Amino acid sequence: MKNRSLVSISDYTIDEQLKILKLAAEFEKNPRQKILEKYVVASLFFEPSTRTRLSFESAASQLSAKIIGFSEAGSSSVSKGETLKDTILTVSNYSDIIVMRHPHEGSAKYADEVAPIPIINAGDGAHQHPTQTLLDMYSITKTQGRLDSLNIAFVGDLKYGRTVHSLVMALCQFNTTFHLVSPTELKLPSYVKQHIKDKNLAYHQYTEMNEVIPQVNILYMTRIQKERFSDPIEYERVKDAYILRLSMLTNAKENMKVLHPLPRVNEIDEDVDSSPQAYYFQQARNGVFVRMALLASILGVI
Ligand code: CP
Repeated sequence: MKNRSLVSISDYTIDEQLKILKLAAEFEKNPRQKILEKYVVASLFFEPSTRTRLSFESAASQLSAKIIGFSEAGSSSVSKGETLKDTILTVSNYSDIIVMRHPHEGSAKYADEVAPIPIINAGDGAHQHPTQTLLDMYSITKTQGRLDSLNIAFVGDLKYGRTVHSLVMALCQFNTTFHLVSPTELKLPSYVKQHIKDKNLAYHQYTEMNEVIPQVNILYMTRIQKERFSDPIEYERVKDAYILRLSMLTNAKENMKVLHPLPRVNEIDEDVDSSPQAYYFQQARNGVFVRMALLASILGVI
């Protein structure tokens, strides 16, 4: 993976993805290592973030890299009209790798085309979020002991939820049975569904969540992505479509875990947080180790 960008989850083979998960487990055991002290990581966030930005920066800091960047486009020269190309070419002069989040689909691919250094896609619009996918795969492996042959439900905004798109694509490699729960208007895009069909895997679509809960190993909740709606009335209509409450977990499988890429708005009631099924804050913690593994692999120190 040395010097290789990560724009889409399919940029890395299944063996490479599994290698990242294995390395992440090593970093979890021994996170403070001075292996990136010669490197500068640029963290360019044109869109808000808490977990992705701070876990990347924590991962880089714990491995002794230097970090430069910005957390909103308004504090960069983009606010003066600078193009993405010029920003990327400029920052490439100052750093060894760029972690970038951007509101436009395809922006990470474009950045990779113009950059002389590797790009890590930290989320491009409603398209993909491949580093979240790797930490989700790590979280599933840690809690279920395997990735193969699981029943996994995705609940909420499957249309705009970029974490769903890249995770579904990754799980197509592992004989997953998919349970897709969404309002009719927020179904999984057909290009993502095509990946499931291409692998001849089973998928079931629902508009209600209750009947799905007892069937699954992982319940992957998502936020309705308000910022992607062009019509606020449409958002108001679907925003509370699914709210997971503790009482709804009574018939869940013994080892079922609730994942959520976070932030949540109100799709998981706080009464779920203390249940044995709640795993979303540990999931966010896992992001640090996965991102350590990615930085070390792409910078070629491992
Ligand atoms: N999961 C995720 O992408 O969270 P942030 O938007 O806080 O980075």
